[in-house]
Amino acid sequence: MSVITARDVEQAKGELVVSSRDVVTPLARERARDLGVALRVGGAHAPAAQAPKVELARQRARSEPAKPEVALPPSAALYRRGAPLPAHVAARPRVAVVGAGHVGASTAQRLAELDRFDAVTLVDVVPGLAAGIALDLWHGAALRGFDTRIEGSDDLGAIAGAAYLVVTAGKPRQPGMSRTDLTNVNAEIIRTVGAAVRAKAPDAVVVVVTNPLEEMTHLMGEVTGFPAERVLGMAGVLDASRFRSLVALTGVARPAEISAHALGSHGPEMVIPLSHASVRGEPLERLLDTATLGAIVERTRDSGAEVVKLLQKGSAYFSPAESAARMIRAMVTGDPEVLDVCVRTRGAYGTVDTRLGLPARLGPTGLVAIEELALRPNELAALRGAAERIAERIRALG
Ligand SMILES: NC(=O)c1ccc[n+]([C@@H]2O[C@H](COP(=O)([O-])OP(=O)(O)OC[C@H]3O[C@@H](n4cnc5c(N)ncnc54)[C@H](O)[C@@H]3O)[C@@H](O)[C@H]2O)c1
Repeated sequence: MSVITARDVEQAKGELVVSSRDVVTPLARERARDLGVALRVGGAHAPAAQAPKVELARQRARSEPAKPEVALPPSAALYRRGAPLPAHVAARPRVAVVGAGHVGASTAQRLAELDRFDAVTLVDVVPGLAAGIALDLWHGAALRGFDTRIEGSDDLGAIAGAAYLVVTAGKPRQPGMSRTDLTNVNAEIIRTVGAAVRAKAPDAVVVVVTNPLEEMTHLMGEVTGFPAERVLGMAGVLDASRFRSLVALTGVARPAEISAHALGSHGPEMVIPLSHASVRGEPLERLLDTATLGAIVERTRDSGAEVVKLLQKGSAYFSPAESAARMIRAMVTGDPEVLDVCVRTRGAYGTVDTRLGLPARLGPTGLVAIEELALRPNELAALRGAAERIAERIRALG
């Protein structure tokens, strides 16, 4: 079964042959009417072989109204504007991933495998890179069982029409590269990408992955001029997952049974409030001693560097991709799960107004609400301190 979209109709010449199992979207039908494209059932699932059954059924029940001899696309009532559509047809937005490097390629794969999108568009400045990765990923669709098209382009204009964007374009930190060097290089890239986002996908929700995370999320907000609810940064989802996975190594529980938050910055000012770390509701502090917990918090903070050191070239990408895809999934499905997201604080938790990792609920149009956790005084102080240092770094961006 395929979903026939308006784009398929636009590319057809006079007639579009669809299978009787295909789903034709309302917009596709409208475009077909406007462009005079005939939708005809045929191809692999053409009902030619079913005709005798139809005839037989008619002979059995002569009082029934005659069924049409000519096969038509599936019931029009199903696709009339406003009529209830199957969820997989009604909610299939497009998502674009900018940057087809390690994180971008893996994110595109995760998103396609969700099978919730009309298409995943991957874009990279390197000619052929995004198209090659897109084709390679698509070659696995039959095995993995998804029907989300994956497209690749070296033209940023290809993001047009995307409802969601994941921005992974930019350099990862190389050995010997200072934070300032990284900021300068990636700021230029974010300015270029942000200008394209503003022009081509003005209604999109943007998830920034490029480091340094808080600065680049802020810059994306400035360049696009989008409301803060539509410019989010990915860090806390990853850092909280790292913490939970490392806690699981002690044997107390499986990773998914452990709850925790990672707030503040994606770096030295990361705040993991142990007052909100638990295993199936039982406080983690009752299960593990202070020294063990302190060591796990430290290792979580240094996890990115630990992976870089082992890889020797490049930085982590499987778990970052999983984290970015999780944020997009939460928005598309309207999942009420609370995720740690880099958001504009607007004074939440008594912080200065900056970009900071805070617990948040997401919805189809981005940030729905910042969740107010009851933090201990030391956790709150650490969070406010993190916000101040991030604000200083953002000021230094100019
Ligand atoms: N927030 C996080 O938790 C987190 C985790 C991992 C990586 N990162 C960051 O994500 C970024 C990407 O990491 P990676 O490992 O995928 O790097 P990578 O070098 O493998 O890929 C980056 C890609 O961006 C492309 N690119 C550069 N400029 C572009 C532009 N203007 N338009 C489109 N594409 C462009 C490059 O050609 C390259 O293919 C880095 O900044 C890294 O530090 C963040």
